[in-house]
Amino acid sequence: MRAMTYRGPYKVRVEEKDVPRIEHPNDAIVRVTLAAICGSDLHLYHGLMPDTRISHTFGHEFIGVVEEVGSSVETLKKGDRVMVPFNIYCGSCWFCARGLYSNCHNVNPNATAVGGIYGYSHTTGGYDGGQAEYVRVPFADVGPSIIPDDIADEDALLMTDALSTGYFGAQLGEIAQGDTVVVLGAGPVGLFAARSAWFMGAARVIVVDHLEYRLEKARTFAHAETLNFAEHDDIVVELKKQTDHLGADVVIDAVGAEADGDLVQHVTSAKLKLQGGSPIALNWAIDGVRKGGTVSVMGAYGPIFSAVKFGDAMNKGLTLRMNQAPVKRQWPRLFEHIRAGHFTPSDIVTHRVPLEHIAEGYHLFSAKLDGNIKTLVVPGS
Ligand SMILES: NC(=O)c1ccc[n+]([C@@H]2O[C@H](COP(=O)([O-])OP(=O)(O)OC[C@H]3O[C@@H](n4cnc5c(N)ncnc54)[C@H](O)[C@@H]3O)[C@@H](O)[C@H]2O)c1
Ligand SMILES: [Zn+2]
Ligand SMILES: [Zn+2]
Repeated sequence: MRAMTYRGPYKVRVEEKDVPRIEHPNDAIVRVTLAAICGSDLHLYHGLMPDTRISHTFGHEFIGVVEEVGSSVETLKKGDRVMVPFNIYCGSCWFCARGLYSNCHNVNPNATAVGGIYGYSHTTGGYDGGQAEYVRVPFADVGPSIIPDDIADEDALLMTDALSTGYFGAQLGEIAQGDTVVVLGAGPVGLFAARSAWFMGAARVIVVDHLEYRLEKARTFAHAETLNFAEHDDIVVELKKQTDHLGADVVIDAVGAEADGDLVQHVTSAKLKLQGGSPIALNWAIDGVRKGGTVSVMGAYGPIFSAVKFGDAMNKGLTLRMNQAPVKRQWPRLFEHIRAGHFTPSDIVTHRVPLEHIAEGYHLFSAKLDGNIKTLVVPGS
C-alpha cells in the first residue's frame, strides 16, 4: 500500500509499505478514505517529539471503511463507514472507566502519562497512523463509531481530532454565562475552541495570533474579536486593557510548545534544547487570565520540562486544566450542534491534497503558506 513515512526532520515522503494485518482478535483493518494533517503532526515533522522513528507513518485524524475485522469484533463489519478517534484505548482500565480515554493504561508500554495515539511516535505507543491507504485499528469495538448517514465525511473527519479538541478546550475552561474567553492560537484547534466558547455561554471571545489571514477566519468563522500579537509590544498588557484591567475569565492555549512571540524562549527551546518547548503562550495565558480564573491547555507539550510561570499561577489562584482530548466523549454533543445547523466544521478546510503529494501538504502547513489552515489528505486519488 502507499503510506506517508517520516525520513527525518522536515522530510516526509510516500512509500510502499505492507498492508497492515489483524494482530489481535479485536483489531480491524480500515481502508482510509480521508485523513488530515494536524498541528500536532508538525511537532513530529519538526523533529521535536522524542522517539519518532524513521519510516513511521503519521496520521491520527482519519475516517474510512472497514476492510476486515478480527474474530472478537462485535460492533463493526466489513463495509462500515467509520470515524476513528485519535486515541487508542482499551475501554476497560481504571482510566478508561473514568472517561480518561487519552490516558489509557493498557496501550502504551513506553510512557506513564499519555496513552496510545495513532501515528504519533513510539512515545505514544508506536502505532502507525492513517496518512496511508490502510491502518490497523486496535480495540475496534471501543474507539471507532459508524458515521451517521446525515454527517458529512469532512465533518466526521474533523471530529476525530481538531473539532473535538477545540470543544474539549472550551469545556475544560468551565465557561460560565457572561464570561470573557481568550483563545491563543487561530489554528484549527483555536478556531473550534473559539466557536465552541459561544455554545457554553461566553459573552466575549477574543482570539490571538500573528497570522492575519487566520485572524480573519477567527472573525468570520468563530465570530470572535481578534488581536495580532505582533502589533503590540506586550500582548498581556493589551489583553488586560481589553478586559477591564482584570484579565479574562478563561484563557485557552491552542498553541503549544512551538509558540512564537519571544526570541529568548524560542532560542532556549527550539535551538538550544534547554527546555522541552517554548512556554510563551502558556505564560501569556497565566498572565492574561484574571485572578481565580481558568487556563485550559490544549496546545501540546512534550515530556521535557519548560519554564512555566508556575508561581504566578499558584499565587493568582488559577485553575489549570489540560489533557490530550478524550475525543469520543465530545461526539454526542457535537453531533447535536452540527445537526442543529449551528455551524459547519468543514468551513475551516483550506486544502485537499492527494496522499502522493503529502510532502507538499506538510510544507504548506509548516510554513503557513497559501492561506493554509487545515489540509485534508485523500488516499487513492
Ligand atoms: N490536546 C489535544 O488533544 C490536542 C489535539 C490536537 C492538537 N493539539 C495541539 O494544539 C495545538 C494547535 O494545533 P493546530 O492544529 O491548531 O495547529 P496550528 O499550527 O495550525 O495553529 C497554531 C497557531 O498558533 C499561532 N501562534 C504561534 N505562537 C503563538 C502565540 N505565542 N500566541 C498566539 N498564537 C500563536 C500560530 O501562528 C498558529 O496559527 C498544537 O500544539 C497541537 O499539537 C492538541
Ligand atoms: Zn492532532
Ligand atoms: Zn484503558
